Amino acid sequence: MSEKFNKIYTQSINNPEKFWQDASDDIFWFKKPTKILNKSNPPFYKWFEDGVTNTCYNALDFHIDQGNGKRIALIYDSPITGNKNKLTYEELRSKVSKFAGALKNQGVMKGDRVIIYMPMIPEAVIAMLACVRIGAIHSVVFGGFASNELASRIDDSKAKILVTASCGFEPGRTVEYKPLVDEAIKQAKHKIDKMILFQRAGYEVKLNAPKEVSWEEVTSNSQETDCIEMNSNEFAYILYTSGTTGTPKGIVRDTGGHIVALKWTMKNIYNIDEDDIWWSASDIGWIVGHSYIVYAPLFKGCTTVLFEGKPVGTPDAGAFWKIISDYKVKSLFTAPTAFRAIKKEDPDGKFFSKYNLSKFESLFLAGERADPDTIKWAENLLKVPVIDHWWQTETSWAISSNCTGIEMMKTKYGSACKAVPGYDVKIIKSDQTLAKPNEMGDIVVKLPLPPGTFPTLWNADKRYKENYMSNYDGYYQTYDAGHIDEDGYIWIMSRTDDIINVAGHRLSTGAIEEVLSEHQSVAECAVLGIADKLKGQLPIGLIVLKAGVDKDNETISKECIQMVRDKIGPVAAFKVAIVIKRLPKTRSGKILRGTIRKIADNVEYKMPPTIDDPVILDEIKKDLIKNNILKDG
Ligand code: COA
Ligand code: AMP
Repeated sequence: MSEKFNKIYTQSINNPEKFWQDASDDIFWFKKPTKILNKSNPPFYKWFEDGVTNTCYNALDFHIDQGNGKRIALIYDSPITGNKNKLTYEELRSKVSKFAGALKNQGVMKGDRVIIYMPMIPEAVIAMLACVRIGAIHSVVFGGFASNELASRIDDSKAKILVTASCGFEPGRTVEYKPLVDEAIKQAKHKIDKMILFQRAGYEVKLNAPKEVSWEEVTSNSQETDCIEMNSNEFAYILYTSGTTGTPKGIVRDTGGHIVALKWTMKNIYNIDEDDIWWSASDIGWIVGHSYIVYAPLFKGCTTVLFEGKPVGTPDAGAFWKIISDYKVKSLFTAPTAFRAIKKEDPDGKFFSKYNLSKFESLFLAGERADPDTIKWAENLLKVPVIDHWWQTETSWAISSNCTGIEMMKTKYGSACKAVPGYDVKIIKSDQTLAKPNEMGDIVVKLPLPPGTFPTLWNADKRYKENYMSNYDGYYQTYDAGHIDEDGYIWIMSRTDDIINVAGHRLSTGAIEEVLSEHQSVAECAVLGIADKLKGQLPIGLIVLKAGVDKDNETISKECIQMVRDKIGPVAAFKVAIVIKRLPKTRSGKILRGTIRKIADNVEYKMPPTIDDPVILDEIKKDLIKNNILKDG
């Protein structure tokens, strides 16, 4: 069993240069690389360093050159507005190259940064592709982040232009982007040159020329622009992700390795061919959206679906089945939380039975732990393989998965299957030795990482080296913990830092703590991710007030909740801030977050021997019961 897979995997580990050189033959190069991997300056490895290519060329022009310009590249479906659209590769290229021309007219040059803060509309994809067409580095910011987060990304990237839209649609509310952008621009120390705003029909907003211009205006007189030649190691994009502090990390992606790796994954991991319809139900603001709404499917030359809706509430729990059936989707990739939401609303699959899903072949889940109950529920309903796979913003593609295009392997519920070719995954125990099968430890990947991962952090080589590559010499530290079993299956159990996953969205509890600490009545606080049936985890805040504060607790709680919404964004889903008397700490002053989390999750915990005052834990238990986080008894 898995002989074919094992052979390919072993080749990728024993001779990565040969493996990825072969894969690189599948993409378009202006100049083919002759130097495959430069290992001279670890941990800064360089893939395909003398290759010359272009991301947009591989996503669009290459397929048109091959005679596939009439194939549908993008299907857009927005259940809230009722808008639907299909764009062929030729049509998409025409729009992208016009917007690329518009960006050039606005002074954007190779290497300049462009922030994209947009809802899930084709123009967001067009803006991304237009940037890489002319060698500008895009940084997409998720629409659920608040102005403060947007401002920190403007400052860190020193963006020249910001591209946005007049609004986005969430079930039950319209998200007005302009005031959020205005506030971010006000807060940012770095000043952008210009804002380009796409006016959505019926939701036009007033713009203040010349600094604010509409998408329509800038494209009305722009010329279609060709792809520029990019060195393989020049950056395609920055995507900021939560780090262990409030300062986000700018994950960068290089050009050549990204195209090679992502194109390889479409067939080998997802079993997708050029004439297939693929759908990733995520958001372009997240890595899943970057890699699998936009880049990988377009590199492959298949059709990708852009869905501006939700699994439930747009309008009902049949939304996913409708898309799959309407467009004959072969495979779907989403976060487990989406399926938990559907299961909650429609446990018996009544909506499902209304649709014809005869073309549907597999469901891929990632972004957070996929609980076996949800996987089994989906398998029973869909009657197709449900595949849990594990990856990170840092890697941009799966570290472990069932590689369905190579060989389907058996499912072990609760495991994210085996390491994907290219990744030499190991477990290291706290005594720094390699773990035996089934022994728990930190999950690491032997360096060099395969192509398409992150060669460094934006303007932060030192942080890259210290944060990820130093704790275990010669390995990339994933900050996930778990074990590998005797069959090589990887079991992801928890994060080892302060990152939590809320509905598949990656958040830092440290960043939320930083916001709470700014409240003038708060002396100290702890934010924890507690287990939640729908979203996987939810953040709760425990706050200790300064002496002499005379505001009532409820008001302070409400203010804290609002501050997190205003500073981080609604996506944090921060709804609980409990005022407590004191926080449990070790004698050396470290807050016992792990113990509090166990209490809140109602799982067994040991009294930490170093606790300064054991009575506090009982007090916290009572507070959690009072706030309905924990049931009495
Ligand atoms: N722009 C503005 N606000 C956004 C947003 C966006 N792009 N995306 C989410 N938000 C807001 C929501 O409106 C909500 O605000 P509210 O507090 O006013 O209700 C808040 O952020 C939380 O949103 P969400 O995480 O979507 O939770 P939800 O309760 O509205 O919906 C699910 C729950 C499960 C339906 C939803 O999380 C979902 O569809 N998840 C799919 C998984 C996914 O895409 N993961 C991404 C990584 S793969
Ligand atoms: P992100 O960078 O947003 O993709 O989040 C990456 C983190 O999500 C990982 O480090 C894991 O903690 C978690 N994660 C992603 N996929 C899985 C999975 N299949 N199982 C368990 N955790 C996962």
